[in-house]
Amino acid sequence: MAAAVAEIFESMSYGPAPESDAEARRWIADRGGEGAHYAAGAWYRAPGAELFDVFEPATGELLARVPQGTEEDVDRAVAAARAAQPAWAALGGHGRARHLYALARAVQKHSRLLAVLEVLDNGKSIRETRDLDIPLVARHFYHHAGWAQLLDTEFPGYGPLGVVGQVIPWNFPLLMLAWKVAPALAAGNTVVLKPAEFTPLTALCFAELAHDAGLPAGVLNVVTGDGRTGAALVAHADVDKIAFTGSTDVGRAIRRATAGSGKKLSLELGGKSPFVVFEDADLDSVVEGVVDAIWFNQGQVCCAGSRILVQEGVHDRLIEKLRWRMERLRIGSPLDKGVDLGAIVAPVQLERIRSLVERGVREGAMCFQPSWARVEESQRGWFYPPTLLTGVAPAATVAQTEIFGPVAVAMPFRTPSEAVALANNTPFGLAASVWTENINLALDIAPRLKAGVVWINTTNQFDASAGFGGYRESGFGREGGREGMYEYLAPSKVPNATRPMVEARPRERSAAADPGALPRIDRTPKLYVGGKQARPDSGYTRRVLGADGRVVGEVGEGNRKDLRNAVEAAHKAATGWARTSGHARAQILYYVAENLSARADEFAARLDAMRGHGDGGAEVDATVRRLFTYAAWADKYDGAVHDVPIRGVALAMHEPIGVVGVACPDEQPLLGLVSLVAPLVATGNAVVVVPSQVHPLAATDLYGVLDTSDVPGGVINIVTGARDPLALVLAEHDDVDALWYRGTHAGATTVERASAGNLKRTWTAWAPTDWYDVARGEGRAFLREATQVKNVWVPYGE
Ligand code: NAI
Repeated sequence: MAAAVAEIFESMSYGPAPESDAEARRWIADRGGEGAHYAAGAWYRAPGAELFDVFEPATGELLARVPQGTEEDVDRAVAAARAAQPAWAALGGHGRARHLYALARAVQKHSRLLAVLEVLDNGKSIRETRDLDIPLVARHFYHHAGWAQLLDTEFPGYGPLGVVGQVIPWNFPLLMLAWKVAPALAAGNTVVLKPAEFTPLTALCFAELAHDAGLPAGVLNVVTGDGRTGAALVAHADVDKIAFTGSTDVGRAIRRATAGSGKKLSLELGGKSPFVVFEDADLDSVVEGVVDAIWFNQGQVCCAGSRILVQEGVHDRLIEKLRWRMERLRIGSPLDKGVDLGAIVAPVQLERIRSLVERGVREGAMCFQPSWARVEESQRGWFYPPTLLTGVAPAATVAQTEIFGPVAVAMPFRTPSEAVALANNTPFGLAASVWTENINLALDIAPRLKAGVVWINTTNQFDASAGFGGYRESGFGREGGREGMYEYLAPSKVPNATRPMVEARPRERSAAADPGALPRIDRTPKLYVGGKQARPDSGYTRRVLGADGRVVGEVGEGNRKDLRNAVEAAHKAATGWARTSGHARAQILYYVAENLSARADEFAARLDAMRGHGDGGAEVDATVRRLFTYAAWADKYDGAVHDVPIRGVALAMHEPIGVVGVACPDEQPLLGLVSLVAPLVATGNAVVVVPSQVHPLAATDLYGVLDTSDVPGGVINIVTGARDPLALVLAEHDDVDALWYRGTHAGATTVERASAGNLKRTWTAWAPTDWYDVARGEGRAFLREATQVKNVWVPYGE
């Protein structure tokens, strides 16, 4: 009997289980097969507008046509959003919560229509749209209805940005809409959204549902079109923020295009996420994990576990098991509920996958595809079989480039340290998963992986309560959770401070003005690199003038080479400093404060000499207080434990960014510098600081204080000289992970543009800050900018 049952299981074949597409096709047909833009609560299309074709990937047939948005179309939508924004903000948190709740309900009530429409438009399987995409869309609106309700109490002092432009990709069309629209609306912004050209239909359907649910006109606007429409939205002068998900190249272009515009920016870009399997992992679970990691959504997932790193001892066994499993995967009509893989979104994407796999093979990889692969490839639509490349060298194209298709590469490793090195051997840093039955090992490895999300013994888990987003070239900003809300908020306007802040630059007085003076005893400070004074490479010094134009000192003229050395020193120190406990970092900051306080008179006199007024004492006092503030924060800027809907938890950890460049303001040169450096150092970053170029002596005097306060060499490096050229070098440097810039608008524009190279996070401002003002000069906003959130998902139970 047992044998007979086993035989039945072996010989059983799947019958077709198609989902009806009648309703979704009727929805398209009822609109004449053509879409329109949605702005100010109305559908419109300019007379004679160019339309482009939208295809059904599973059949290759024409599905609908939608207009190619022009600059005028974008302009119209932005104007509608601008007009609607004040009333939407004035509605208050509760009013907006009711609307977001209504949107969540509308999604649920029309869930099957949306799920099927998504299948037709994207080619992904109904199993995924029905069970994952659409439920998560609803969850996102519910969760953010909650944030709207709690906005005033949970985000005091913060308000909306205004009009938000959002550009989304085709791989999760409606889910990406939800991730972007829900927090933006909850915060009181209005939105202009541009869906991807391959997949605009569910966004249009959603706009209809929102309209019917009573969302006020102009709050949500949708303009269809390709990259040109996206570029017009990005460039629009009346947009306050751009949120983008898509390829790293376009992300870079958007970073450059928005440089200096003052637009807030979040970028969620590509990835090449490692999937790390240790010898003691449960290999059968691992196999199902791989299925979810790389064959889910045909691998067209930014956080797909596309690099399978396997510990040597189980490598061959796992590959064997994977091949067995791949033979049993089913590909075909995505409307069939028994299908594992649907179609690839477009021929161009299919071609990209094919050519990358061919390249992998040319570069020496072994390519495995199931025996049925060739047969299925002859289907009408755009299909690509599950593919596993083994024997891949870490530097091979397929190991480094995002393929965005159902293609995994596998590589062996020996030790946990080698696994970490291999995992981090990529310019990306979106996600990672770690497979081991040893929780100690998993939780040791997770913080060492450079990735915004780490899944332990699971993969591709998403929830509205846990932030999602990348490190490094995977972009910056988070979607979901409290941190995701901050992406759509700004400190509310507070009255301008009255204190005069920028002193006029003194003009040098000729030496003849002081005929009887004796030559000064030379005390020219050098640069401060790796905990030691270093002579500037240039061999030049720059004069520092007092308010009366007299020379009050000299400092080294730092250059590119000095900065390179400083960045190298910072890198050496960064890992150790990041691992130092918050308590130990606090002790050191208190010690700096104590030593500064002991020399307060000397520092005050120096500030007074440079600036010609008697505020120095007050500034030193405020600086000591600020150091105390961040010493206090060093062991208190905790993460969170998110209540995600799995049996388990997601640990949101605040991690330092790494090496951060800091270009300091001229106003309040000591307090300004410490206000920027202390939060970075308190949270475990190493810094390379360019002090005020007008009043640098306050910084160079700090060398001695740092030396006597146990600050490890390399944690704080100081390079004096011309601020903007030095800041530009830092912006272009690939080993600088973030840049804080305080200076001019032109300088901010230059560094933002230059930062596109490695997509470093920038934080710029050009309006002078009154650093005495605790509301502007210190606090959580600084700590948030100094850290990035890593969410570590830890399921539990048998
Ligand atoms: P893409 O980055 O070109 O498209 C994403 C969105 O950006 C679309 O809405 C597009 O119309 C828009 N866009 C394109 N150029 C723009 C510009 N200059 N300014 C503003 N918006 C612009 O991605 P594409 O071409 O669809 O896919 C190419 C590759 O990108 C994929 O093979 C994959 O590797 C990667 N990708 C990554 C995604 C992710 O979620 N990380 C999503 C989509 C693609």
